[in-house]
Amino acid sequence: MRLLVTGGAGFIGSNFVRHMLTSYPEIEIVNMDVLTYAGNLENLSAFEDDERHILERRNIASEEDVESVFRSHEIDIVVNFAAESHVDRSLHIGAEAFIRTNVMGVQLLLDAARVHGVQRFVQISTDEVYGSLGPEGQFTEQTPLAPNNPYAATKAGADLLVRAAHKSHGIDSVITRCSNNFGPYQFPEKLIPLMIANALEDKPLPVYGDGMNVRDWIYVQDHCQAIDAVMRKGRTGEVYNIGSDHDVPNLEIVKQLLALLDKPDSLIQFVEDRPGHDRRYAMDSSKIRDELAWTPTLSFEDALKATVHWYLENDEWLEHVRSGAYQGYYEMLYGERGPAG
Ligand code: NAD
Ligand code: DAU
Repeated sequence: MRLLVTGGAGFIGSNFVRHMLTSYPEIEIVNMDVLTYAGNLENLSAFEDDERHILERRNIASEEDVESVFRSHEIDIVVNFAAESHVDRSLHIGAEAFIRTNVMGVQLLLDAARVHGVQRFVQISTDEVYGSLGPEGQFTEQTPLAPNNPYAATKAGADLLVRAAHKSHGIDSVITRCSNNFGPYQFPEKLIPLMIANALEDKPLPVYGDGMNVRDWIYVQDHCQAIDAVMRKGRTGEVYNIGSDHDVPNLEIVKQLLALLDKPDSLIQFVEDRPGHDRRYAMDSSKIRDELAWTPTLSFEDALKATVHWYLENDEWLEHVRSGAYQGYYEMLYGERGPAG
């Protein structure tokens, strides 16, 4: 079995590559990653000499690159993680790269999968495509798509292209829509690693708005196991929500992190809100739990402790990813951000 994993040097992709290579000795992975700021080969240094892991430094939004990868390797299954993934970048830097990778790139992969007779196409999507919830209720797979930021809009567009490829060309496809991930190797632009990194340096922890926006947090390894289950046993043409029923306000997460790091709450700084900031996400993931017998394995508290521990143990990794362009990015996004209210 040979998988094409796109975006396999990023946060979730590299955790998935690790999960597959350690769980299935017979599997081979072609890892197609163009290595943007978010792609990092250090995430997979343990597999540098593993012949079952082949890196193709290529762009999914380039027809030439996609063709070259599919011509060079006989691919059984595509698992598409590659994306521009950060909401704030799509709002403050621009949506162009998001449209290229998250929309064009997906169509090029679908076309190649059809031409080259791939058995299954797994699209890694997100709960953000559903938009925002009011005070009650959860997203189900039937919730209408209503994205509220450019990143989410491109991911919703991709989901529709995958659906269309299934309906019109009979591509065997499955779509996963997961909630907020955390865990090892997450780039410190996202809430949890950013707060850990700042707290370690006693820098202010920038909480958007009133800090009461709610996300459903899932440990990345649980997400990877869910993707594995959907890839192997999910019904063709179906969408599977993935969540861990841990929906809490951002402020609560930030305070828990400070307590784990033995740092004071006074580091918290309420800053200007994200434009169009979705208020609440919560996932009904009963479909994957009932149909595929998947369930998260670690409690949130244990997973958060393991994550903090990982960042403490991997200070070199953190230092490397925070050098260079990261400094300019941080200054641009947070430097001029006024206080909340
Ligand atoms: P990430 O930003 O950490 O990694 C993205 C990876 O894709 C990087 O390695 C990058 O180099 C690569 N990439 C970007 N553009 C590419 C291109 N044009 N061609 C080839 N490679 C390219 O992202 P992540 O957080 O690991 O998310 C992975 C996927 O999971 C995304 O599709 C995202 O929408 C989805 N998702 C993320 C979360 C989350 O909480 N992080 C939750 C649900 C779904
Ligand atoms: O829900 C799934 C999505 O989760 C994925 O599709 C995205 O790829 C991933 O980036 C993530 O999106 P969010 O916008 O929810 O994640 P982020 O970590 O950027 O923010 C989480 C919450 O924390 C959100 O309400 C905004 C808030 N926040 C974030 C940052 C970076 C802050 O208050 N301060 C911050 O500095």
